[in-house]
Amino acid sequence: MTTQKHVLSFFFILLLAGLGSIQLSMAKEVIRIPVGVVLDLNSSVGAIAESCMTMALSDFYAKHAHYRTRLDLLTRNSADDIVTAASEAWYMMKKEKVQAIIGPQRSAEAKFVMELGRKAKVPIISFSATSPSLSPSRSPFFVRTAFDDSAQVKAIAAIIEAYSWLEVVLVYEDTDYGNGLIPYLVDAIQEVGARVPYRSVIPPSSNDAEIRRELRRLNSTSTRIFLVHMTASLGIKFFILAKKIGMMSEGYAWIVTEGLSTLLDPVSSEAMDSMEGVLGVRPHIPGTKYLKDFMIRWKKPNKMTADHNLFGLWAYDTVWALAMAVEKVGIENSSSMKQNVSTNLASLGTSAMGKTLIETVLSLKFRNLSGNFQLVKGQLEPSTFEIFNVIGNKERIIGYWIDQQKGLSRQLNYDQSEAEKSDVKRKLKQPIWPGDTTDQPATKKLTIGVPMKEGFNEFLKVENKKISGFAADVFFAALDKLPFPLPHDFFVFDGTYDDLLHGIKEGKYDAVVGDTTIVAYRSLYVDFTLPYSESGVSMVVLVENNERDNIWIFLKPLSLDLWLTTGAAFIFTGFVIWVLEHRINSEFRGPPQQQLGMIFWFSFSTLVFAHREKVVNNWSRLVLIIWVFVVLILTQSYTASLASMLTVQRLQPVLTDIREIQKNGYYVGYQNNTFIKGFLIKNLGFKESMLKAYDTIEEYNHALSNGTNNGGVAAIFDEIPYLKLFIAKNCSKYTMVGPTYKTDGFGFAFPRGSPLVSYMSRAILNVTQDKSKMDSIEEKYFGNQTICDDQSAKISSDGRSLHVYSFGGLFIIAGVVSMFSLLMYLYRFLCSQWPTLRTMIHSEISFRSKMVELAKHFDKKDLTSHPFTRRTSRIHAVDTPDDTTIGGVHDANDMQNNSAVENNIDVNENESNDGNILSGDTDSSIHVPNLSS
Ligand SMILES: *[C@@H]1O[C@H](CO)[C@@H](O)[C@H](O)[C@H]1NC(C)=O
Ligand SMILES: *[C@@H]1O[C@H](CO)[C@@H](O)[C@H](O)[C@H]1NC(C)=O
Ligand SMILES: *[C@@H]1O[C@H](CO)[C@@H](O)[C@H](O)[C@H]1NC(C)=O
Ligand SMILES: *[C@@H]1O[C@H](CO)[C@@H](O)[C@H](O)[C@H]1NC(C)=O
Ligand SMILES: *[C@@H]1O[C@H](CO)[C@@H](O)[C@H](O)[C@H]1NC(C)=O
Ligand SMILES: *[C@@H]1O[C@H](CO)[C@@H](O)[C@H](O)[C@H]1NC(C)=O
Repeated sequence: MTTQKHVLSFFFILLLAGLGSIQLSMAKEVIRIPVGVVLDLNSSVGAIAESCMTMALSDFYAKHAHYRTRLDLLTRNSADDIVTAASEAWYMMKKEKVQAIIGPQRSAEAKFVMELGRKAKVPIISFSATSPSLSPSRSPFFVRTAFDDSAQVKAIAAIIEAYSWLEVVLVYEDTDYGNGLIPYLVDAIQEVGARVPYRSVIPPSSNDAEIRRELRRLNSTSTRIFLVHMTASLGIKFFILAKKIGMMSEGYAWIVTEGLSTLLDPVSSEAMDSMEGVLGVRPHIPGTKYLKDFMIRWKKPNKMTADHNLFGLWAYDTVWALAMAVEKVGIENSSSMKQNVSTNLASLGTSAMGKTLIETVLSLKFRNLSGNFQLVKGQLEPSTFEIFNVIGNKERIIGYWIDQQKGLSRQLNYDQSEAEKSDVKRKLKQPIWPGDTTDQPATKKLTIGVPMKEGFNEFLKVENKKISGFAADVFFAALDKLPFPLPHDFFVFDGTYDDLLHGIKEGKYDAVVGDTTIVAYRSLYVDFTLPYSESGVSMVVLVENNERDNIWIFLKPLSLDLWLTTGAAFIFTGFVIWVLEHRINSEFRGPPQQQLGMIFWFSFSTLVFAHREKVVNNWSRLVLIIWVFVVLILTQSYTASLASMLTVQRLQPVLTDIREIQKNGYYVGYQNNTFIKGFLIKNLGFKESMLKAYDTIEEYNHALSNGTNNGGVAAIFDEIPYLKLFIAKNCSKYTMVGPTYKTDGFGFAFPRGSPLVSYMSRAILNVTQDKSKMDSIEEKYFGNQTICDDQSAKISSDGRSLHVYSFGGLFIIAGVVSMFSLLMYLYRFLCSQWPTLRTMIHSEISFRSKMVELAKHFDKKDLTSHPFTRRTSRIHAVDTPDDTTIGGVHDANDMQNNSAVENNIDVNENESNDGNILSGDTDSSIHVPNLSS
């Protein structure tokens, strides 16, 4: 039994021994993998990172004691020097055969070491080289276990947008770290509609005096919003000086990028004091229990006054990740780093393990102190950023930037109901700004130039730095509509508007508010808002208004040509009737003066329808009918036109044509200091010597009233809003005439490219489309302008003489009928006289004698005609030669009594003739019995 027992115990011991030896051999097989660490141990980031890495190593292997690989960290101080960092890295790759390098700390160093790593196929893993100019995708052996700096620019831009800042000055250090982010920042800032008017580059080696000088220069720009992108070492110095110089006071706003904000905790309390009121952006680290435990453990041994920072966490996670990767890659690769004893830099050995190692690191996925560790495109994927405000040595989180779609939010848990938030108060909690104020700093206090105006103060009036008037009220109304405050000061400028606007280009003013007209050439050096007034340039002239007192007004209804045409038509018609009647109607016969008189008398008496001579020829009747119709129309038109002239007040512009003014060399006026002068010279071709400048409505009035010969002007050119006001104040004395030249109305001017232009234009549109608001402003300054409104209509509608053209149709008809009748008659006359004519034509006498002969024939009575055939017997019996007036009267009576019916009522007939025939009463009474017998 005992032997059995002994044997058993022996085996047991053997077993234990065997197990122990296995254990021993395992412990022996732990493989040490050398890993280089290059840090600037003098900097707080370096110091914290180093202690974090040490902790990470012990934590990791305490948790994973069975792992067969052990990281062997060889730490070197780069002492903030690129060459040192590179040479340390090179030395470690070559001599220590490190399988990976953690660091280097700074972006500029990383650039070089990265290349060494590529050459030696050694992974370079940096947790602090955040410059976006280092791209892991460009270098296969570079991994960044941190966020790219450019990840934060959207969050910064979102803050700028939320506060509607329009201009932001960038201040950054002159290093790879500083410069690398600037293009990204500028792009993001421009994307939200702001501008970067000024960039300040501060070399890291600057001394206090240099930084002070730069700060003064920043202060001298009008922008008050600064974005600081620096590392802590320079940033702390910068803010302490800024505080000393007085730039950490009310009205200023400072934003710091991740570079400073992730380091805020370790900065000294003096630096924290000076950064009071600063806004900062930094990645949000979820506060896990593990992180809290770590913080407690970390503080104890390190006795650091400083708190932790993000780079420390990333350093911790980097070691953790590398340790995991090394274990996964395994032991087999561990010893296979090729070695090359050459001291030549170019012939660095290559690591066989490097490639697999880096692939493994890239594929890792775990949760640790800084949150999820997962590399995308060789670097950590950025997530949420938190926005904090430095208040009394502490940082208060005022909101979060969740992602591009969601933007800013007061809560980490994004609330969908806040999606339509437009108010910054709902996006971020109220920060305390520098100077211990809650008033949001504005981009800057605008220096606004306003023109000095002598007259037309309805548009703009300046009184001890306060402005009023139409333009001012529109400006203030638009300011109310802006989504942000716009502090401003007004500065009066006495001179031309063009010089005032040039002040913007020269940097004297940030804006010009006033009745500045939007014209093309000005838009070359300023940007205008949309217009807020009517537009156009026109001319105003005196009107004539004294026609009622004109003794010759009766001539006015018809124009001269119509008068002449009418006169000619009368004479012509009289002549035609005479020709048609001469041979057959004794009333148109007699001595030549008598016949001439008859021609005039007859036709003019038709004017009042008082002709009593009977015409007997049918052709003359036709002519007469048409002519009487023409006369009727003419007299009616004349009456109507004269009546309107006498009853309606007639206003007529003295001048209507620019060419007339230029031809006669009249003076013209314009408003002093405006662009109208150049417009008149360049566009309308006036000579400068012919132009006169005026300031006020009274001067306009005098200049136009005195007229061009008495030291005044013939016309005044100005913009329509001014002219309307002028006319309204001098109703019925002046009128606007001529074409309207296009301009674009009044607008406010800003520097070219100013983001304020679009904000202001939107606000102006809002104001000008608000009818009640606009009406109230207009009424306040211009009163009721409707009184004189219909004036121009009056001028165009009447005051015109009738012209011959309007009656052309009538005259043509009358003329054609007359000519036709005349020709027909002459034809018949010639036919009837043919035998005589033929002998006459063939005779040997001269043409003149022939014509005289023909005239004589024509002058003879046509005894064959109807009236004469009736009377021949009677005339022979009773009367003496027929070429007397009395004979003519006889004839008339005879004709009247031709009809058989009338013969029976003798007495009545006589009576009815009483009124008509002045001299023929007795004669007719003599003849009637004759006829009836
Ligand atoms: C870094 O610190 C060491 C001592 O800790 C000091 O000797 C050295 O001058 C420092 N280097 C720099 C660049 O500050
Ligand atoms: C900064 O500018 C303001 C005026 O814009 C001036 O009052 C102040 O004195 C300036 N500060 C410095 C330090 O130049
Ligand atoms: C026009 O304005 C200028 C500057 O404001 C002034 O010096 C000049 O006297 C003015 N001219 C007239 C005619 O008012
Ligand atoms: C124009 O007329 C006003 C009064 O209507 C007079 O005071 C002024 O002297 C005149 N100007 C000239 C140049 O004649
Ligand atoms: C003007 O802006 C106000 C808000 O400030 C808005 O309620 C109103 O609808 C706008 N008016 C126009 C015509 O856009
Ligand atoms: C302006 O004139 C219109 C029409 O004549 C009238 O209805 C209105 O009351 C007037 N307003 C003022 C302030 O006189």
